[in-house]
Amino acid sequence: MCGIVGYVGEQSAADVLFSGLARLEYRGYDSWGIALAAPDGLQVRKKSGKLAGLRDLLATETLPGTVGIGHTRWATHGRPDDVNAHPHLDCHGHIAIVHNGIIENYVELREELRRQGHTFVSQTDTEVIVHLLERELADPDALRADGGYVGEYARSGAPDALLTAAVAATIRHLDGAYALAVLWDALPDCLVAARKGSPLIIGLGQGENLIASDIPAVLAHTRRVAILNDGDLAVVRAGGVEFLDGGLTAVTEPEIMEVEWSLEAAEKGGYEDFMLKEIHEQPTALRATLQGRFEDGRVQLSELTLSDAELAALERVFIIACGTSYHAGLVAKTLIEKWARIPVEVQVSSEFRYSDPLVDARTLVIAITQSGETIDTLFGVREARAKGAKAFAVTNVVGSSVTRPEAADGVVYTHAGPEIGVAATKTFTAQIAALNVLALKLAQARGTLTADEIARIFAELNELPGHIEQILLHQDDIRSCAESGCCVNACTSLFLGRGVGVPIAMEGALKLKEISYIHAEAYAAGEMKHGPIALIDASVPVVGVATDGSTYEKVVSNIKEVQARDAIVVVVASEGNESIRNRVDHVFYVPRTSELLSPIVATVPLQLFAYYIAKSRGCDVDQPRNLAKSVTVE
Ligand code: F6R
Repeated sequence: MCGIVGYVGEQSAADVLFSGLARLEYRGYDSWGIALAAPDGLQVRKKSGKLAGLRDLLATETLPGTVGIGHTRWATHGRPDDVNAHPHLDCHGHIAIVHNGIIENYVELREELRRQGHTFVSQTDTEVIVHLLERELADPDALRADGGYVGEYARSGAPDALLTAAVAATIRHLDGAYALAVLWDALPDCLVAARKGSPLIIGLGQGENLIASDIPAVLAHTRRVAILNDGDLAVVRAGGVEFLDGGLTAVTEPEIMEVEWSLEAAEKGGYEDFMLKEIHEQPTALRATLQGRFEDGRVQLSELTLSDAELAALERVFIIACGTSYHAGLVAKTLIEKWARIPVEVQVSSEFRYSDPLVDARTLVIAITQSGETIDTLFGVREARAKGAKAFAVTNVVGSSVTRPEAADGVVYTHAGPEIGVAATKTFTAQIAALNVLALKLAQARGTLTADEIARIFAELNELPGHIEQILLHQDDIRSCAESGCCVNACTSLFLGRGVGVPIAMEGALKLKEISYIHAEAYAAGEMKHGPIALIDASVPVVGVATDGSTYEKVVSNIKEVQARDAIVVVVASEGNESIRNRVDHVFYVPRTSELLSPIVATVPLQLFAYYIAKSRGCDVDQPRNLAKSVTVE
């Protein structure tokens, strides 16, 4: 959600900002903008629509300047139009800011500033920040006279003293979340950045430094990346970066990491779309996530820093997550309850926080978030820890907010590599793989499975990547089914499953609706006759998850019920099940697995099904409308 890029160096800032923003397109946006420190003051260009607008502009206009800030906006406050696009400027056009997050008290601040003579041009919450800055910078004596850390820094004689002090003074007024970058024409060789609750990283280059919302935006320049701590600031110049904590004390040893994956990993690599590439990367992602997790007859999960005795004493597990990650959580519930015999509750994060959840020191809270930045999940973890629970995160993004010590007690990483397509695919199956490991770890600690049983399950888990490779070989069958008139032209569709098939049906429905814009609803198949069956007629495709398992026959009965109402039926079934072939309209076969491991294989055809339907409808599968990859607002 919203992408920020800032550059200070020797290259054309406009070009660097454009390519950085292009690498953040996956986050979702509806307008773009840049501000550059040019010899005759700030140069600002911004517009609604896609970044192609900026590319066209740069083809016709040379924009001078080697320092600048850029933004892609995902509208929250105010329409996605040219005026609301960032950067926002103060009344006189000397200060420019870009912002990701939401300022919750902006209405009061705007009224106060209006009374003091400030004029607002946009409907955004962001604009108050630049006017607050203007107010601070208009009175340097007041900044210097401040009795606290702001005054101390303003008096320090640092070349950036006034701007940095003004930013620190400004953010004291803000309630809510922000990642922001500030450019001031009086200090044209430096940017000041700050964050609280929204992601911001610093790319440390040679003679150039960058800030960005995510790593891909800086990878063309450097692999050395520092994650700005929550509440901290950074003063960025070409020759170096000064890290400051919220009290403006220097952070002398910022955490710097060397990014292991390359720019190519964040490129399409010959595939038509990131989504298709990422679907195909699932075997690799799964292998990487499972690697080293079962050695010497024991489940290896040292990241879960609880002792076996503590794990054995747990009375309850709570899983919180959103969207696709929530579906992974539903799969995990079955795994943990069956293998480790602990009651598990799964809740969407946005509800968890406000539900006064019954968690305490004997509760393990597992937060599942691919991006590690979903604000609802971050707040949920905070709530759980405040109530005394231990909270662990399952995430794919190293250094993301959920991995910070102030967020969770520990992190289990999926190793799926960067996921650029907005629709989660490889990270979903990698999450399920990681959650299998976690469930087995709990079972081992609690003695609810024998060592042999755990070894057998691991052996089967390790076969899953090969199974997915088999499914991918048959993607053309899925494609032709998806492209058939009954699916592509459907207005609505129903996905059915039972047991572990229910979350997979939910995930299949979510994939279809988010990328093809066809309405899709998922139901536990047995619930059909309690209402939704009224929707069924020949125009409604029904997709059933009918892999082998204890409820297979029940799913088949439910499928017959919809067929009796003329529905077109597509099923995912286990290889070797020939009898189903003649009973339904289309079958996507997946290799046989034991029931509890079937979710991973059953998901893949449904991802491809949604993908090919969306492509046939001409949809942008990588950047579906209205969606953002990283949801940093509540
Ligand atoms: C769907 C999708 C979203 C995310 C959700 C949570 O394809 O990607 O539903 O799963 O926004 O995101 P994370 O996992 O980053 O917390």
